Amino acid sequence: MSNIAVLVSGRGSNLQAIIDSVESGYLQARISVVISDVGDAYALERARKHGIEAVFIDPKNFASKELYEEEILRILREHGALLILLAGYMKIVGKTLLLAFKNRMLNIHPALLPAFPGLHAQKQAFDYGVKVAGCTVHFVDESLDCGPIILQRCVEVREDDTADTLAARILEQEHKIYPEAVRLFVENRLRIEGRKVRIIR
Ligand code: GAR
Repeated sequence: MSNIAVLVSGRGSNLQAIIDSVESGYLQARISVVISDVGDAYALERARKHGIEAVFIDPKNFASKELYEEEILRILREHGALLILLAGYMKIVGKTLLLAFKNRMLNIHPALLPAFPGLHAQKQAFDYGVKVAGCTVHFVDESLDCGPIILQRCVEVREDDTADTLAARILEQEHKIYPEAVRLFVENRLRIEGRKVRIIR
């Protein structure tokens, strides 16, 4: 059984989608710990409601990013985590975590990467005037939001959309493709070949 750790910073709706997929049996995995860099992140509460250990690590208590991530690593090891999921984790991952979890860290991003990396991707896409937006699950590497892509889903932009209505429809798709991508990982069906991820059917 794969032990998963989820890193969060906010409301945790993607975390909830992963929890639900585990509880329904769609995902044959266990969420061993949820870690937040924000003390009052609702994601922590969601985890606790489901009996999952939820830990707040305050980055301000550490002299450097390296020391902060070493503390995260200590907790991940304590819980035997084999895979990290970033689910609305808003810090840039540093080399300490990247090296320890190379090719074992996934992220969900609310845009069709490589378009609109960074913050407020849905609003960036809306303001740019795209006709098709969407979301991406990718492996995390040293580039910001640019690791090898596992799954993407398109969302059409409607004439009457606002940035918020568009973001809400993208979020619905995020909740579908993140569990799908995690399942592919857990079933060992992903092969990274350069920039490409081959999915074994
Ligand atoms: C999600 O839309 C996720 O794709 C995005 O933050 C939101 C978190 O929502 N992540 C990024 O923008 C990462 N660059 P959630 O806490 O409800 O899952």
